[in-house]
Amino acid sequence: MIYLDNAATTFPKPESVYAAMDKFLREKCANPGRAGHRMSVETEQEIEKARVTLAKFLGIKHPERMVFTFNATDALNIGIKGLLCEGDHVITSKLEHNSVSRPLAGLEKYGVITVTRVANSDDGFINANDIRNAIESNTKLIACTHASNVLGTIQPIREIGKVAREKEIVFMVDAAQTVGVCDIDIEVQNVDMLAFTGHKGPFGPPGSGGLYVGENVKLRAWREGGTGFEPESLSQPDTLPFMLESGTPNSVGIVGLRTGIEFCIKEGIDKIRTHERNLALRLVKALESDDRFKIYGSKDENEKVGIVSLNIKGFDSGEVGAILDNRYNVAVRPGMHCAPHIHREIGTFPEGMIRISPGYFNTVNDIEETITGLKAIADSA
Ligand code: ALA
Repeated sequence: MIYLDNAATTFPKPESVYAAMDKFLREKCANPGRAGHRMSVETEQEIEKARVTLAKFLGIKHPERMVFTFNATDALNIGIKGLLCEGDHVITSKLEHNSVSRPLAGLEKYGVITVTRVANSDDGFINANDIRNAIESNTKLIACTHASNVLGTIQPIREIGKVAREKEIVFMVDAAQTVGVCDIDIEVQNVDMLAFTGHKGPFGPPGSGGLYVGENVKLRAWREGGTGFEPESLSQPDTLPFMLESGTPNSVGIVGLRTGIEFCIKEGIDKIRTHERNLALRLVKALESDDRFKIYGSKDENEKVGIVSLNIKGFDSGEVGAILDNRYNVAVRPGMHCAPHIHREIGTFPEGMIRISPGYFNTVNDIEETITGLKAIADSA
C-alpha cells in the first residue's frame, strides 16, 4: 500500500519505536508512582525521562508543566474547559479542527462563553492583526492551530502570541500537525498552552500526546482520581503534572512517543520536513497546470506542512478516495477532515476534498504512482 495519510497518523513508525514499546511492555510495565517496588520506580523513571525529552524538544523550562494526555483532543479539552469561566470571550479561527471548534461551540451553546472566529486569507493564513482587532475587554483565550489539517498552511503563531502577551490573554496552540516537523519553542513563540498528539509528527502510537501549561495559566482539573501523589487526600492535588494526570497513564505509549521524538531529533526535523515538502511539491508541480485539478490553499510548500488538498473536477472526493484505494492501492483522506468551517469558507462544504499527506517514509515513486492514478481518474471523466 502507498500510505499518503500521514496528516491523520504517521505510518509506518520507526523501527526503534516498535522495539522500545515491545521491550518496555515485556520488562518494565508496572504502575508508576503507586508503589515503591523496583519495577514501579523504573516505570516512573521512563515516564519522567519522556517528560524531560519532550520539554527540551519544545523549549519548556519546567518539565513538570508538560502533562501527558491521550491525544491532542484530550489536551485541548483539558486546556479549554479547565480555563474558561462564565462570561469569557474567546478568539479562534475558521481553520480549526473540531477538537478546538467543538469544545468552544459547546460552551457557546450553553451560554457560558462568546466566541469570535476570525477568517483566514484565501491561501489559508490567519493575520495577527485580525486577532488583535477581535479582542474584547473579556477576552480570556486565543486558540488557534499551528498548521491547518486541511490546507497544511503554517500560521504566524509567534506574531499571534505577541498580540496575546501584550494584552495578557492566554494563547493556546493546537500543534497536532506540527510537533516533529516544525520548530517549536514555546518561549520564542509566546505560547501559553501547547496541545499535541503523539501519533502524527512525533511518530508515537495512538493514545499518546501532551499539553504544555504555562506558568501564567491556572486550570481546573476536569478529570479527578488517583495520582499516586498525596494519596491520603480526598482533594485533587493542585501540583503539576499530577493535577492533570489522574488514572494509570499510557506508559507504553509515552515510551513510544519519547522514542519517536528521539528519532526526530536524530534525523533532524529540517530533514524530515524538507523530504515531506519536496514530495508535496512534486505532486503540486505535476497537477497545478492541469485544469481538471483544483488545488486548495497556498501552493508555496515552504509555508506548509506536507499536505496537498485537491479535487478532480466532476468527481466526488469520496469516490476519488475509494478509486485510489481500490484500484491504485493509495491511501488518502477524502471528505471534511473534521474541519467544517474551513470547508465552508473554501466552498467545498459538504462535498469535501482529497487530502494527500506524504510522510518521511514515502518515496518519489509513491508520488509518481499517485499522480498516475489521479490522472487516470481524471481521464475517465
Ligand atoms: N485530525 C486528523 C486528521 O486531520 C485525524 O485527519
